[in-house]
Amino acid sequence: MTHKIIIKPSEHVLNTLSGETILQTALREGISLSYGCRNGSCGICKGKILAGEVGYGRYDEETLTDEEKQAGMALFCCAEPLSDLIIECHEISAIKDIEIKTLPARVEKLERVAPDVMIVSLKLPANQRLQFIAGQYIDILLKDGERRSFSLANAPHDDEVLQLHVRNYPGGVFTEQVFTTMKIKDILRFEGPLGSFFLRDTLPDVPIIFLASGTGFAPIKSILEHVFYQKGGKDGQDHLCALTLYWGVRNKAELYLLDLIAQWQQQHKNFSFIPVLSDALPEDVWTGRTGFVHEAVLQDYATLENHQVYACGSPVMVKAAYQDFTALRNLPKDGFFSDVFTPSISNKP
Ligand SMILES: Cc1cc2nc3c(=O)[nH]c(=O)nc-3n(C[C@H](O)[C@H](O)[C@H](O)COP(=O)(O)OP(=O)(O)OC[C@H]3O[C@@H](n4cnc5c(N)ncnc54)[C@H](O)[C@@H]3O)c2cc1C
Ligand code: FES
Repeated sequence: MTHKIIIKPSEHVLNTLSGETILQTALREGISLSYGCRNGSCGICKGKILAGEVGYGRYDEETLTDEEKQAGMALFCCAEPLSDLIIECHEISAIKDIEIKTLPARVEKLERVAPDVMIVSLKLPANQRLQFIAGQYIDILLKDGERRSFSLANAPHDDEVLQLHVRNYPGGVFTEQVFTTMKIKDILRFEGPLGSFFLRDTLPDVPIIFLASGTGFAPIKSILEHVFYQKGGKDGQDHLCALTLYWGVRNKAELYLLDLIAQWQQQHKNFSFIPVLSDALPEDVWTGRTGFVHEAVLQDYATLENHQVYACGSPVMVKAAYQDFTALRNLPKDGFFSDVFTPSISNKP
């Protein structure tokens, strides 16, 4: 059974295909909504049903509470229309014209940069390039039809090879393969680019805080390299708004690409880097910041009223950052953008 969906305030009209979620319909019809995990875990696709009925689908109950449901909210990546609908949400024009492709790629390089982190470089066929926005991700397509999401860590201008930062999740079907059997020249298939974690204003006027935990650094690296490449304006001068990266890991060995970050610090006066260790080891001889990474931001800023925050990594970190920054530091809710690294195990095509 098909239904009509009207989006407010844009007044765009979508026609569903049987069994599609609201997000699937929108993406198929070329309308870009905010989304991340596509399995009901991150909450980024949450929007309002103004009229009509939906089946809410399978989702994490912490992500959509009963109170929110009663207030008309739904997760558009899980909700299926049961009638014609009127919904309310923001559309993102930036990704409207970017084609989502399914492509093969050859493993070009495997670099173990931390005990649990492999940088996987992927080479596309000679006649192919992947157009994407810094911060987006791809889905690796597994043989059994499942898929696993990984952020692109290279910037769009530097697209000779695609770079992924893969954490070794114990028991993980794909990541264990990366750390054990994957070889140079292996062929993978992927779909992308996906997601809406990217700078909303190309060159915003407010200071930006980037908050990463673990391999959540990957899309932030892509965004920062893109900003540095752009150089901030017609006059070719560096973009002047402050860009601060807080990167939280457990111990020193989990920080990687530190030479690259040191180079950014040297070359860009407006960039600063604050590594934060939650479980520093005695051999780390660490004199830097410790504790949870989002708490370091709370310690450093009395207010975040005129800031934007881009947070990426573990669900716990992103959730705590959103709650504390908006409640305790007056960060505007629409100034917080995130990608949440939820397990992709339940993602179906
Ligand atoms: C939009 C998006 C972008 C992502 N980008 C990256 C990235 O750039 N780098 C990266 O390392 N990861 C990233 N992830 C997370 C990654 O996709 C998942 O962790 C994925 O499930 C790993 O695949 P797997 O086959 O190894 O593990 P699976 O087979 O999916 O999971 C097996 C078991 O491993 C454990 N596990 C797997 N993933 C996690 C997790 N994230 N947290 C806690 N336990 C877990 C669980 O116990 C799970 O039951 C991203 C996720 C999303 C949604
Ligand atoms: S909950 Fe819908 S995209 Fe994550």
